[in-house]
Amino acid sequence: MSGTSLDGVDAVLAKFDALGKPTVIARASSAFDPALRKTLFSLNTSGPDELARSSLAANDLVALYAKLVAQTLVQAKLSASQISAIGAHGQTVRHQPSLGYTLQLNAPALLAELTGIAVVADFRSRDVAAGGQGAPLVPVFHAGIFSTDYTRVILNLGGIANITILRPGADPLGFDTGPANALMDSWCQLHTQQSFDVDGAWGAEGLVNQALLDRLNNAEPWLKLPPPKSTGRDLFNLKWLEPRLQYCLGRLAPGTSLTPQDIQATLCAFTAATAAQAIDTYAPDAREVLLCGGGANNSALRKDLQAALPCTVTTTDSAGVGTQDVEALAFAWLAWAHQHGVAAGNPKVTGARGARILGATWPA
Ligand SMILES: Nc1ncnc2c1ncn2[C@@H]1O[C@H](COP(=O)(O)OP(=O)(O)O)[C@@H](O)[C@H]1O
Ligand SMILES: [Mg+2]
Repeated sequence: MSGTSLDGVDAVLAKFDALGKPTVIARASSAFDPALRKTLFSLNTSGPDELARSSLAANDLVALYAKLVAQTLVQAKLSASQISAIGAHGQTVRHQPSLGYTLQLNAPALLAELTGIAVVADFRSRDVAAGGQGAPLVPVFHAGIFSTDYTRVILNLGGIANITILRPGADPLGFDTGPANALMDSWCQLHTQQSFDVDGAWGAEGLVNQALLDRLNNAEPWLKLPPPKSTGRDLFNLKWLEPRLQYCLGRLAPGTSLTPQDIQATLCAFTAATAAQAIDTYAPDAREVLLCGGGANNSALRKDLQAALPCTVTTTDSAGVGTQDVEALAFAWLAWAHQHGVAAGNPKVTGARGARILGATWPA
């Protein structure tokens, strides 16, 4: 899995029982090297020669996927011939389901060549073709591993935040709630040259500005849309932030100013506020929110979320799955589902016309 944060790749090697219940056997992660990260980042917006650049970047991406697959095999003392498939998400560079497309850079044929293992990829396009958002695809998987006898919410804090609402005896619901780390990462990179704010420590030097927080919350129609809905870096990026920030800076009391840290603290509060608002509206009966994804490591964000929510906020570790493994494991499960002919699409979540078998196979 490599998500919208563009931080790197997470791999898990898992064994599934007959019902699709996973056991994690090995895991590996790697950050993107700065050049690949820069290239992938730049491919999120149109630029010169993007077809050739995309193809080459996809090849570099799967070279890293293959390296991590090899690491997990060594850890588990298994050989390629013992693995039934790799689920390879690819790198989302455009997500416009309302226009009929979502685009993940990937090179599954090369990955199959490099590893000698069958590859299942392109998980989102069929759901979009069936009129759905193509995202989030994880709620059905979350339901399988995290459902319990009370209402639970899973909040994944990657580049974008998405929730899954699990109620006993009901189908899972889920949708994107807004940015998780995407804006915070970009703002941090701009001012500190660090790709993310480790543990939210830099932002914690600042103070939340309520006027800016209100502007971010109120001046974005997407946030008010009912589900099904999904979003990406196409929307939540520094170009989105700029006019909202200028609006507030132009209205500050004379003699006052905002530091970059104040703005980071406000972006952190914005992530918490949008997620809390979605939970309050669609899961007011939630007894527990389990965090996963990289943002679960950010104690400032965890603090803001707990302050904004009336229920317990903890992490998926408490339910037996590491916060960094959940997304990767979900795509391993989607590969399992594809191979078993399970229609893993969830029309109630994505708005598609029906549940479809997701993905396509490149044989070993
Ligand atoms: N120790 C940490 N402190 C604060 N933020 C972190 C930490 N570790 C990871 N993150 C955040 O999590 C992001 C990566 O999360 P991840 O779940 O991999 O997202 P994605 O699925 O979009 O790749 C990083 O870009 C960073 O913003
Ligand atoms: Mg990541």
